[in-house]
Amino acid sequence: NQASEPTVQSPVPEYSCQRSTPLKHHNSRFCEAMELLQDYAEMREGDDNYMRALAWRRASCVLKSLKFPLTNIDQLKGAKDVGKHVEKVLQSILDHGTSDEVEKVRNDPWYKKMKIFTKVFGAGTKTAQEWIEKGWTTVDEVRQNYTKGDWRLRFGLAFHEELMELVTRLEADNFTKFIKHQCETILPGISVELCGGFKRGKTHGHDIDLLFTHQSTGKEVGFLPRLLSVLESKNLILCGKWNRGTYTEEAMYSDSKRTKNNQLDHFEKWIGIIKFPKKWRKSISEEEFFSDENVSADLNSYEDSEPAKKKLKTNELSPEDIAAQSRSWIARRVDLIIAPYDQYFYALVGWTGSKQFNRDIRTYAKRTHNYAMTSHGLYDLTKRKSLPAKSEKEIFDILGVPYFPPEERNC
Ligand code: GTP
Ligand code: MN
Ligand code: MN
Repeated sequence: NQASEPTVQSPVPEYSCQRSTPLKHHNSRFCEAMELLQDYAEMREGDDNYMRALAWRRASCVLKSLKFPLTNIDQLKGAKDVGKHVEKVLQSILDHGTSDEVEKVRNDPWYKKMKIFTKVFGAGTKTAQEWIEKGWTTVDEVRQNYTKGDWRLRFGLAFHEELMELVTRLEADNFTKFIKHQCETILPGISVELCGGFKRGKTHGHDIDLLFTHQSTGKEVGFLPRLLSVLESKNLILCGKWNRGTYTEEAMYSDSKRTKNNQLDHFEKWIGIIKFPKKWRKSISEEEFFSDENVSADLNSYEDSEPAKKKLKTNELSPEDIAAQSRSWIARRVDLIIAPYDQYFYALVGWTGSKQFNRDIRTYAKRTHNYAMTSHGLYDLTKRKSLPAKSEKEIFDILGVPYFPPEERNC
């Protein structure tokens, strides 16, 4: 009985940031298909493919926010972002359970290789494409033949299997607890927040994103190098790169400077790989957790350098050698980000994601208010002034977007 079938609320709010998008929804088979097409378009070069990728993603996000499973294409009447091409793919899945277009991409040898190679830490689509052009088809083949010195790729390749294993929520919580404990001695009052997918309720993720701040702005300066030297002294760092902050308010008013060097933001941060003790993978008692404490770090020894690169030069051990050692730890990807308190809530929104949520809320801010939204703040481009916020809620209020908690930002 078609008359009783649910339809989308009409009109569907245009931007995904105006809709609740839970992690678990009713249309995963459709979204999986559309996100595969997004993925494929993203890997191909050119503006057209970039736009195509976004179109698939936006359509997928509409389906993710539906309160019912799609059973009839007419249920999408009134939804923006669902064009003829999207309808065709959805109709095919409704009729046959699959779509030829999707299956063709899924089985495309080039796509399959790109899929494998872009999962290597440090490898973007450009690197993956280069490897394919060399005729390499597996990560093992790349390992045997890749000779360049990029530290990310060398470690990414050497530790690929364990980095591919997803990080669990328990591991992320244990690591956060451990870092918080270190913070108490390094800088009391520093706050540590587990962001990224875990904040949105995911039980697994590809890395651990920790955002730090201190309520008295300025106190956070110099904290990250000190934390890193503690981690270094405990021999917990496999490799990584520290970047000093490059934020200026001035840059936020300039389209080109805002995203200079393709950087998503200008925070001081560390991106790297932690040697994660295997015992942190299960539930552990406080006692056991901090028993082998040995804080004897020279808190000022960490300098502006690429520790991994330094190690590659001075150490006898290559990433491959380290990976082959018998060891009590596994490699885990970690991002550590420092935000001054006056930028904190924007940083929180930015580092909570999802990526698509950020894209949409930023587009919304620009189109409806002529505001540039970044992880540092909201900038009124007309009046050339910034709009500070003291909570996430306040950011949504300023923009006139209903507040959704992180669990509902899974677009
Ligand atoms: P998993 O790690 O796979 O669970 O997904 P995730 O959503 O946590 O992705 P990721 O760790 O890549 O990024 C976390 C959030 O931070 C996402 O919303 C990204 O858009 C955002 N993000 C990632 N890198 C940057 C960056 O350099 N700057 C800013 N501002 N945001 C970033
Ligand atoms: Mn993450
Ligand atoms: Mn991350």
